[in-house]
Amino acid sequence: MAHQQAKILIFDSGVGGLSVYKEIVAKCPQLDYLYIFDNQAYPYGELEHDVLVSRVEALVTSLVAQYAIDLVVIACNTASTIVLPSLRAKLSIPVVGVVPAIKPASSLANQAVGLIATPATITRPYTHDLIRNFSQRKPVELIGSTRLVDMAEEKLRGQAIDFNELHAILAPLINKVDVAVLGCTHFPLIKAEIQQVLSEKVMLIDSGEAIARRVETLLATKGDENQMGKREILSTAPPWEEGALNIALEELGFTPVRYYPLEI
Ligand code: DGL
Repeated sequence: MAHQQAKILIFDSGVGGLSVYKEIVAKCPQLDYLYIFDNQAYPYGELEHDVLVSRVEALVTSLVAQYAIDLVVIACNTASTIVLPSLRAKLSIPVVGVVPAIKPASSLANQAVGLIATPATITRPYTHDLIRNFSQRKPVELIGSTRLVDMAEEKLRGQAIDFNELHAILAPLINKVDVAVLGCTHFPLIKAEIQQVLSEKVMLIDSGEAIARRVETLLATKGDENQMGKREILSTAPPWEEGALNIALEELGFTPVRYYPLEI
């Protein structure tokens, strides 16, 4: 019998979007999931603006057509802060993006907010508009780090986090902020370690749960919640430590990574 569940496409440069996938799948296990990571152009936090936009548009539009996708999640802050308007103009299905949770963080903070994101996200006009509009009274300290993104990739493949290195990266926030935004989808994967370095007193906020609620609302026909949908995963280049990666992916319900080259 033909599969009747709605199908979601989740996009990121790497494994960070899996933190968003986990939140969505917890609410909607019955849906079919197709995850693509553009590891050929990773890290997105250091990618040129126009290259990023054209890669995301090409990959997402071709997958939407090929796999009969019902909803797209751009599970990447670095991409969402620049690609959403043009991508939405090209598609007739909902496109949900992830942007740094400055607004809730600022309303919860008593002292100051930290924004931990990629080097690109902290320079985006979109991010600075969020700060201007939603954090007028609380100062926002920015940290842009690709090394933190790499550390999340490494942890998912079973490697240990170097706490001295993590401490050095997060030093500008230590004892300076009482709320910190995880403004990159990779960072919830190393949330416990970030929490330990910043101390238990700092509240960490990410957008994952809010995105999952949005997806749940948009996909009104949810199907049989007792059935588990399909979980497939694609990459634009052969992933490093593919064996270790596939073990982690299997735990999340995915079949092994398949290669999906980008043809622009
Ligand atoms: N996970 C991505 C984000 O949310 C970007 C990581 C990267 O490739 O630099 O910003």
